[in-house]
Amino acid sequence: MSLFDKLRATADRVADAGDGPLPFATVIDEVLNPTEVVIDGRRVLMCGSNNYFGLTFHPDVLAAAHRAIDDWGSATTGSRAANGSFAVHQQLERTFATLYGLPHARVFTTGYQANLALVAGLCGPDDVVVLDLESHASLFDGARLSGATIYGFRHNSPDSLQRKLAHVSDPTSCLVVIEGLYSFSGDIAPVAKLAEVCRSAGAYLLVDEAHSFGAYGPRGLGCAEDHGAIDAVDFIVGTFSKSLAGVGGFCVSRHDALEWLHFTARPYVFTASGSPANVAAAHAALDVLQRDPSLRLRLWDNIRRVRLGLHAAGFQLNQDESPIVSLQVGTAQTAILFWRALLEERVYVNVVLPPACRAEACLLRTSYSAAHTSEQLDRAVDRIVQIGRSLGVVPVPA
Ligand SMILES: Cc1ncc(COP(=O)(O)O)c(C=O)c1O
Repeated sequence: MSLFDKLRATADRVADAGDGPLPFATVIDEVLNPTEVVIDGRRVLMCGSNNYFGLTFHPDVLAAAHRAIDDWGSATTGSRAANGSFAVHQQLERTFATLYGLPHARVFTTGYQANLALVAGLCGPDDVVVLDLESHASLFDGARLSGATIYGFRHNSPDSLQRKLAHVSDPTSCLVVIEGLYSFSGDIAPVAKLAEVCRSAGAYLLVDEAHSFGAYGPRGLGCAEDHGAIDAVDFIVGTFSKSLAGVGGFCVSRHDALEWLHFTARPYVFTASGSPANVAAAHAALDVLQRDPSLRLRLWDNIRRVRLGLHAAGFQLNQDESPIVSLQVGTAQTAILFWRALLEERVYVNVVLPPACRAEACLLRTSYSAAHTSEQLDRAVDRIVQIGRSLGVVPVPA
């Protein structure tokens, strides 16, 4: 098959989606505020972003970004290893280290690159990476880049992990990789149990808290904190692109190995460092989150309001409470029709199609924010329920 034949197969799949707006190809013409955008000239309610605290327009975040541009310019124009770190990178690293009570912290240009750098920086061809099978693409890509032997274990199953680790001859050369909160399904990992399996086998554990940072744990540090397991985890990774309303990634650890990645991890060394505006905005968002716990309370109130409404209408929801409320809607065709009908009703959500899920288990992935009002949430639930009934996804009341 030629290079372009593969892309033609993609074009055929897109054609299969039929007429109408295409999922994965939406253009947002204007962002009115953290919960409303303009698409195709119409005001649309955003229930498909990861802006969990709605901080993208917070005055402190905007002011920090503006100040950073004035003080440092628009870009770093190079890698930290080659061209030098700006003080803003180090200041944010110190804040993350202090927050977690851990000696080492590093920031990365994106969350994707943080995962690539960690997994491919720590592991090499003689090592083993064991991943939860529902892990994010960045974690699998890091494992591939490392050249390590890759094993998958059954999603969220400590027994399956234990069985895989039994095949690893030298557990000290093995990195186990999980997420705190899984981005499609909205499932939460049993972090403490998985950490215990790693500890008894002698393997290292990395937890990606991309979607859980901010929302879980007494101080919002993620699922490891929520499960009292920060000390049992070797590397905690997160991203700025969700709760922190920016672009970038971070890792904290008790191991000084994290420091050496500065010199060796290719996805960190061979790319430009995060722009001053991005780093300063994430730092300001972190300060806001730490200062104002009412944001977390609002987020959880909103999550429970939505879940209650959708559950009452008969939707099969993910078991764990999270800002991600994924609805099983059936085939890809139903999922696309559902998505389009919602957009027509001015509600934007995400859709999960094969190969990211089983053919008959496609998802509408909806997500919520502390910034949504009750009226907005009720409107979203009402439209989802009405369309779900019209497509036969949930029963029509007698
Ligand atoms: C679990 C997980 N990890 C990492 C990333 C990558 O983060 P970023 O988009 O900030 O590069 C994502 C992005 O969606 C994610 O869902």
